Amino acid sequence: MEFDFTSLAFGGEQHIVAWDAKRIGALKPENQQNLAKVLDVFGKKSAVAQGLQTPVTDIHRLRTTDQRLYLYMYRQSTKTVVLGGLKVGTKRLYVRTITADLREIEPICVLDFYVHESCQRRGIGKALFEHFLNTEGCDPASLAYDRPSPKLLAFLGKHYGLQEHVPQSNNYVVFNRYFDLNPASASTSRSQGRLNSRGSAMSTGTPHVHPLHGSRSTPPPVSPSPLLSQTPPVPVPAVPAVQGWPGAGTISTPSTSTVAPPQ
Ligand code: ACO
Repeated sequence: MEFDFTSLAFGGEQHIVAWDAKRIGALKPENQQNLAKVLDVFGKKSAVAQGLQTPVTDIHRLRTTDQRLYLYMYRQSTKTVVLGGLKVGTKRLYVRTITADLREIEPICVLDFYVHESCQRRGIGKALFEHFLNTEGCDPASLAYDRPSPKLLAFLGKHYGLQEHVPQSNNYVVFNRYFDLNPASASTSRSQGRLNSRGSAMSTGTPHVHPLHGSRSTPPPVSPSPLLSQTPPVPVPAVPAVQGWPGAGTISTPSTSTVAPPQ
């Protein structure tokens, strides 16, 4: 995906930038408009790739929620090139454990994840995911995944050995290992009998509803885009680990410190 401006992108070897409400709010109006264009294209292409009727990522959602989008983007000559992105945010969910207990949990969730068709299976997704894990100090098993596609399930199995999970009626995937990492406390675990009277697992908290239930499992073919980027730089550079979610002002600064961040 290519865009005819350079003000948002960095040169150098570190290509992943995290965008959240704080960072977006600090942009000049012109740069906010440019970012809105990037997110519009990203959101639409991701939705098409996943068979969603409408995008789940746009600038409004990033400005008004705790969600953050890690974008693999860089400057090339007079253009900004975007290869993919990963959006995460916290949700309150009710999920069944392997023993059918209902648990209320509030994990960081993978909400949108897309790498352009021209460069899938070349390590871009792994680089994005690892950058997010390192930046926020997360374990892949401690996350919830919103309606993961077969490609994402394959990705998680291959890179992190994540496979076993209990099907949930809210279509989030929480791997069984989550419950090893996060044992139930009395206040967060409820008995199966009590909760059967209320029906099956459901998601609550921040509203987040996909327009097509189950649609991610059958993404339609995507025709090559006129916005295709060139071959991505592979291998992807390693990303330094930073513990915790430090906020927009301190994350994903390009390794080329001579480049001023966009305003
Ligand atoms: N078919 C099956 N598995 C795939 C495919 C594919 N077409 N593409 C990637 N994978 C999995 C495989 O495990 C693959 O390993 P392999 O090539 O040895 O089989 C592994 O991912 C490759 O890892 P990366 O190269 O780091 O992943 P990539 O850059 O392709 O990014 C992603 C993975 C984001 C899932 C990408 O394939 C994509 O954008 N797919 C289309 C959109 C999509 O399905 N997004 C997830 C939606 S669910 C959600 O967002 C919560």
